[in-house]
Amino acid sequence: MKPEFHFADRAIKLTSSAIREILKVTEKKEIISFAGGLPSPEGFPIEIVKDAFNKVLTENGKVALQYGTTEGYTPLRQWIADEMNASGSEINIDQILIVSGSQQALDLLGKILINEGDKILVENPSYLGALQSFGLYQPKYIPVPTDDGGLIPEHIDKETASNARFLYALPNFQNPTGRTLSLERRKELVKLMANLNIPIIEDDPYGELRYKGTPQPSLLSLSKETGGTVIRLGTFSKVLAPGLRLGYVIAPVPIIRKLVQAKQASDLHTPTLTQMAVYEVIKDGFLQKHLPNVRDIYRTQVQCMLKALEKEFPAGIQWTKPEGGMFLWITLPKHIDSTKLLEKAIVRNIAFVTGKPFFIAPSPEENCTMRLSFATVPEEKIVQGISLLGQLIKENL
Ligand SMILES: Cc1ncc(COP(=O)(O)O)c(C=O)c1O
Repeated sequence: MKPEFHFADRAIKLTSSAIREILKVTEKKEIISFAGGLPSPEGFPIEIVKDAFNKVLTENGKVALQYGTTEGYTPLRQWIADEMNASGSEINIDQILIVSGSQQALDLLGKILINEGDKILVENPSYLGALQSFGLYQPKYIPVPTDDGGLIPEHIDKETASNARFLYALPNFQNPTGRTLSLERRKELVKLMANLNIPIIEDDPYGELRYKGTPQPSLLSLSKETGGTVIRLGTFSKVLAPGLRLGYVIAPVPIIRKLVQAKQASDLHTPTLTQMAVYEVIKDGFLQKHLPNVRDIYRTQVQCMLKALEKEFPAGIQWTKPEGGMFLWITLPKHIDSTKLLEKAIVRNIAFVTGKPFFIAPSPEENCTMRLSFATVPEEKIVQGISLLGQLIKENL
């Protein structure tokens, strides 16, 4: 007889990410997969990282292999503070907590901010990983409508939003849509949330991957003028490598203190060795030299995909034209169900992620959208894959 396990109600509500499920199918070698969300390994500075780990272990091994403080490695926190202040924020080191990837920050923030049934404002659609983290704490999602300019502040109903615990925003090259919040809307949003006394969580893993257009100020820097609270999440996953599992939170000191307590309960601290090695990599300006190369990779890939879409997709299909990041969002005519299309696509060895799981509330677009990632697919495969997908869509028009 199979043993029966008794899980907590919280665990029973846990579900696997729809994307991870699709990724299992796409492991087959012959599949051209636009489903993944992984950064391009071509951009991983392997030798530099190897030398940094070696140097830290050789010169400072006893510290690097010891427990560290929960807040994180001080020189790394100071580096982050200096970077943020150079781009218009005014923060100090006490406002920074190093985390094991920004995904951990999402979980910890859910833990310290959400009681069951609390309202939280979320872009519709939004990042699935955040929905998984917040979902554990059983909030009531209030959807914020979006269009090509990102979330729409004037569509936030003040009454519905009142007392919300926070608004979760992805201002740059949003996952899943690739859209960017315009400057006017950034200003409007920060002002509105300050007036409503609702903190903003600004999740910005892709901001440094801008390959086109003008960089926009962070919500954190804009809040200097309006007041209000912005909790900013950053990560080294997309600028160095995600396997390092290194990210950070910038927040007012009382929030950092609570996060520190929650993180202590979770993993004591982020690995000392990784923090020291990454600091060694970046301390003398490495990212300024490295990032243009990474941006070049993504620029080439996205241009290839946009060109292929122009050529292969029939009229009536829309797609976003991201200025950075790794994703592009396709909107099909309403009568084409992207879930059914995916089943047929997999038979032809093409994969993508359907739009549905990213929506937290019903939307006319939830069944006819899909996310394509161009980051890890070689150019000839992008051309081949988009051609096959275009053909399939034509057959289903
Ligand atoms: C919007 C967004 N936030 C957070 C994360 C988590 O990143 P990490 O935990 O690697 O820092 C991701 C990863 O893809 C993401 O797309």
